[in-house]
Amino acid sequence: MIKWGIIGCGRIAHRFVQGLKAVPGTELVSLWSRRPETVIAFSEQHGGHACATVEELLASDIDAVYIATLPDSHPEYCFAAFNAGKHVLCEKPAAINLDILNPILEAARSKGLLFMEAMKPPFFPLYSRLKEYLITNPIGPVGYVRAGSSVADIPRDHPNFSYDYVGGAIMQIGIYEAFLAVDWLGETQQVQTMGRFGGTGIDMFAIFQTLHTNGYAQLYAGFDLHGKGDALICGTIGHITIHKNWWNPSKATINYLDGRIVVIDEPFTAGGLNYEIEHFCELIKAGKIESNIVSYDMSRQMIAMLDKAREQVGLRFKGE
Ligand SMILES: NC(=O)c1ccc[n+]([C@@H]2O[C@H](COP(=O)([O-])OP(=O)(O)OC[C@H]3O[C@@H](n4cnc5c(N)ncnc54)[C@H](OP(=O)(O)O)[C@@H]3O)[C@@H](O)[C@H]2O)c1
Repeated sequence: MIKWGIIGCGRIAHRFVQGLKAVPGTELVSLWSRRPETVIAFSEQHGGHACATVEELLASDIDAVYIATLPDSHPEYCFAAFNAGKHVLCEKPAAINLDILNPILEAARSKGLLFMEAMKPPFFPLYSRLKEYLITNPIGPVGYVRAGSSVADIPRDHPNFSYDYVGGAIMQIGIYEAFLAVDWLGETQQVQTMGRFGGTGIDMFAIFQTLHTNGYAQLYAGFDLHGKGDALICGTIGHITIHKNWWNPSKATINYLDGRIVVIDEPFTAGGLNYEIEHFCELIKAGKIESNIVSYDMSRQMIAMLDKAREQVGLRFKGE
């Protein structure tokens, strides 16, 4: 049984619990969030002990902590969890920049505790089945990725629009695009970004062109245009479309140069966070401190790309 505590009982934490309930051998033990009323309501809905303080949560009988606060407070709770001897699954972006991320990774390593950034797409059944299929039915070396996410129906009081809480299209959505580009094309070598700001001091829409070890990516992230939400991955003898929304993937079409068209349909269940939770629990059981899928290096590369992108559009957060 892997016993969990949650820090930050907001929107994504509800989806996390939906996923947790679908993973056998897990238990929600304790909860804590900034406002007591949030924790109590969450506990009444999902179970788990509503803690009065983060110290109480960290002293409870748990193996792992899911950190689902906003990115400004992720580092503080990561360090507190490591000091209490708990493994950490931390929501994305785990840190505001690479300089802040590095000490988190070093702390996990030095304490011998598992840390993983909750980058969900690679754990969806579609994504893993697609990768498996390509081993025996390749599209040739991949040299180009085009993907984006622009979601125009987010309410304006959402933290994605908050400067103080590290909102903005690049940080909140661009990190998914960074993952996709690095996963298919390798290490980032160059980043070219343009972005447009809104009234709250964060970027509302940004486009990136990136050069990687194995090719180019063209990416977008935004909050005020209704984007298509698919992803295109091009190899020398075929291309893949991961249909919308590619970051919660359930369907892909592979078009081969010889005319073959292959559709892979792999619906997800329980909201989709169950797959990353399952992976994380397996890693704990195997005594690992790092995921082979969302590795420390992947987290470093994703945030390094966003650091460069923000520098180019002129977005700096408090304390930077
Ligand atoms: N993986 C995904 O699919 C996905 C999707 C959306 C968001 N996210 C990520 O998940 C994180 C949370 O996003 P969300 O949409 O769930 O935001 P949210 O609904 O605003 O929830 C955040 C929760 O954290 C609590 N909180 C905020 N700052 C805190 C602090 N300093 N100390 C203690 N509690 C604090 C809030 O507390 P109170 O209510 O108690 O005030 C709120 O309940 C972000 O990093 C976001 O990027 C991931």
